[in-house]
Amino acid sequence: MKNLALVGIQWGDEGKAKIIDHLAETSDVVVRFQGGNNAGHTIVVGNEKTVLHLIPSGVLHKNTINVVGNGVVFDMGVFLHERDSLIAKGVDVGPSRLKVSEICHVILPLHQLLDRARETSKTKIGTTGRGIGPTYSDKAARLGLRIGELAYPEKIRPTLKTWYDEKCVHLKNLGHEEIPSFDDLFNQALAHFKKVEPHLVDTSRFLHDLDRKGKRILFEGAQGTLLDIDYGTYPFVTSSNTSAGFAACGSGLSSSQIGYVLGLTKAYTTRVGSGPFPTECQGADEETGKLIAKKGNEFGSTTGRARRCGWLDLVALKRAVELNGVHGLALSKLDVLSGIKTIKLATHYEIDGKRTQDFPNFWIHEPKAIYEEVEGWPEFPGTQKESDLPSAARQFIQRLEEYTGVKVAMISTGAKRDEMIVRDSKLLHKS
Ligand code: IMP
Repeated sequence: MKNLALVGIQWGDEGKAKIIDHLAETSDVVVRFQGGNNAGHTIVVGNEKTVLHLIPSGVLHKNTINVVGNGVVFDMGVFLHERDSLIAKGVDVGPSRLKVSEICHVILPLHQLLDRARETSKTKIGTTGRGIGPTYSDKAARLGLRIGELAYPEKIRPTLKTWYDEKCVHLKNLGHEEIPSFDDLFNQALAHFKKVEPHLVDTSRFLHDLDRKGKRILFEGAQGTLLDIDYGTYPFVTSSNTSAGFAACGSGLSSSQIGYVLGLTKAYTTRVGSGPFPTECQGADEETGKLIAKKGNEFGSTTGRARRCGWLDLVALKRAVELNGVHGLALSKLDVLSGIKTIKLATHYEIDGKRTQDFPNFWIHEPKAIYEEVEGWPEFPGTQKESDLPSAARQFIQRLEEYTGVKVAMISTGAKRDEMIVRDSKLLHKS
């Protein structure tokens, strides 16, 4: 098993960073391929917590090279801040082990203003306010700025000025009056660029070269499949394709080089921001939802917002498994459900009086989740041994496998780095 893609198969926040950190030990390169600093990836080593938004989660392993691929939208200020915080912790983040694609699209301050200004209009998505949507919109509209272009300031200045003037009109129409001047914006971008420049390369060629040399590449997904711009709960989604297929486009490798796809789910479901959530704990389940939120520390690592909590949704998971071509599942936060007497799993939706196992494409009528109940389990310690798991927890895992048709290959049993059961040891080997 050489290359591997890890993707979240819910609405994000599945605990990807911990799994990446684990797999990075035997990987040569970790690549981010979509999203931007809307992601918040938390790694706990000993008692120290590191939250990464833009830099790949392999960075704490000193032998791993970390690559920000072309599919990522790139906030230079955030990158520099994150890089400098890692330097302060003694982590080597020099250009030889931290590479950024020269063709990443740049998030500029006006993108953030637009993101926030649009949130006050009629469809409130509950975005992270980081400028992700407006930057991807400009990319698709062929109005974007690719980071490497900042090496030619005089060439790009007139085009960027036209772009700036258009955005100012747009912002004013949305009621936003305080806008930084063009010169301030341009000079700040150039100053940031000078510091980012040593990290810039053609990451596609760089990765092809490493792949040819037999190096192991780990693709790090951000957000989750249910936030995918095509197949998520549109329009309550993020602005990129979050599924494994995009690992190729967003890194400049080919789809045949992706290899094994590991799909990560929590033992329950969470969602931040607005949008449909059929298994959300409401009514009689509201207290259980609060308990899960507290025990699972379900607060966003990017915005600090409380996450909405609900039961595991097998209907959605099965669709996500199919969309990503998941070879194996990783399961996180199983320990959080310990102590709950009866656990629910959604096996069907009821839409317009009809039962279905199909995850819908349209969300005009919010589905009612139909549940199966299983026995809960007592508390268990963070462990690496499957035999430490209570039998009801093992039955829960078995039901998940039966429904999705995919085996659970990894189980995270606590927040710490070593609290992990690896059922498929191939995951930790290059070949
Ligand atoms: P955006 O990506 O900031 O445009 O936000 C769009 C939607 O995706 C909002 O509902 C966000 O809360 C959600 N979202 C974006 N990034 C993440 C993430 O890393 N985890 C969970 N939800 C996210």
